[in-house]
Amino acid sequence: MEEKDRIVETFRGRTVFITGGTGFLGKLLIEKLLRCTEVKKIYMLIRGKKGKAAQERLNDIFANAVFDLLRAQNPASLQKCRVIPGDISREGLAVSSEHRLLLQKEIDFVYHLGASTRFDDSVKTAVKFNTRSTKLLLDLAHGCEKLQIFVHVSTAYAFPKEELLHEKSYKAPTDPHRILAAIDSSTDEECETLMEDSPNTYTFSKALAEELVTEQMEVLPAIIVRPSVVCPTWNEPLPGWCNNLQGPMGLFVGAGKGIIRSMYMKGDSHADFIPADLVVTGLLIASWNYLNNSKNLYQIQRRIQKGSELFEYYTTKNWNFSNSKTAEVAEKMNAKEREIYKIAGEGFDLKEYLRTCMICSRRNILKEPDSTLPAARRHMTM
Ligand SMILES: NC(=O)c1ccc[n+]([C@@H]2O[C@H](COP(=O)([O-])OP(=O)(O)OC[C@H]3O[C@@H](n4cnc5c(N)ncnc54)[C@H](OP(=O)(O)O)[C@@H]3O)[C@@H](O)[C@H]2O)c1
Repeated sequence: MEEKDRIVETFRGRTVFITGGTGFLGKLLIEKLLRCTEVKKIYMLIRGKKGKAAQERLNDIFANAVFDLLRAQNPASLQKCRVIPGDISREGLAVSSEHRLLLQKEIDFVYHLGASTRFDDSVKTAVKFNTRSTKLLLDLAHGCEKLQIFVHVSTAYAFPKEELLHEKSYKAPTDPHRILAAIDSSTDEECETLMEDSPNTYTFSKALAEELVTEQMEVLPAIIVRPSVVCPTWNEPLPGWCNNLQGPMGLFVGAGKGIIRSMYMKGDSHADFIPADLVVTGLLIASWNYLNNSKNLYQIQRRIQKGSELFEYYTTKNWNFSNSKTAEVAEKMNAKEREIYKIAGEGFDLKEYLRTCMICSRRNILKEPDSTLPAARRHMTM
């Protein structure tokens, strides 16, 4: 008898609400949900940006190469996506009361990916985008009539003092409620004094957000997923895809272009990174496992390669992440599910992966035709 895909079952007929759907991981999550599951509807919280209204931005998103396969296989599925105009950095998420009621009536699953991923935001900005937004999302989730799961996407580096990070909750460096109260009445300098020795405002604000989610776990079905450094896709829906040059790809492209010639790092340190499609798979199977097996805190990480100058704090230190619970969930997958929801990285070829990432970044981000490859290779050896 053919094995059942239990992840499809988990999402069948469900309505999902996603923040950060216009971003790197968000696009991939939406694509995977539409291509591989029978989700009923996806509400996407989108802000207006660069003179474009939220609704207009949806068409731009679907025009991205990441949706090519889906557009070819099942273009009608794109109709399942609906825009909720909003802004995670503003009070009430800047969502209209009609939309709030709609969401609270209809949504089954929440995926909170929306964030400012800049390391150099002021404390107030980082806390507004990453911590307060999480509180506002949790508030909204509390009013949801049939919420089944709230998935919060954090980072494996939220608690950098921990040399071995376990798949469990940790206390933030400061009480998140104290900071939330302070951001409206204090200066940035005053808020900075509350950062303790956090390496940057991003890490700090993500740690605070985690604590807010953890606080709610007794009363709200919530889980936390902690990817490490997310790199271009390994395989799905196309190999080597990413949508910007932030992070390691910026470093590789910068080096290839001759802009970055050196970088400070410790020779014996390592950085952990994970292809984005494995993160998305992790989000889906973590949701399935939570709903069907147990309530756990998840961290997704794969140990593979290097960092960049902005990540100097990270490239000169070592961390280890325990992923035994993630491995346990992978063990529960049947053969069919393992094929569709790859998580373990079997057959991963690092050299081939990096080559594909570079080629894909050249084509999709730098818009350079493959005919210029020989010249680029000469450039690299200069
Ligand atoms: N990429 C990584 O290496 C990595 C590693 C660990 C954890 N994470 C976490 O994974 C999540 C997704 O990361 P990503 O790499 O996909 O980030 P990204 O590409 O920078 O996307 C960020 C998303 O958040 C949205 N957003 C930001 N400010 C907003 C606002 N005020 N209102 C509404 N939406 C807003 C952005 O929308 P706009 O299009 O409107 O800007 C975008 O959709 C984040 O929570 C991040 O902390 C990422």
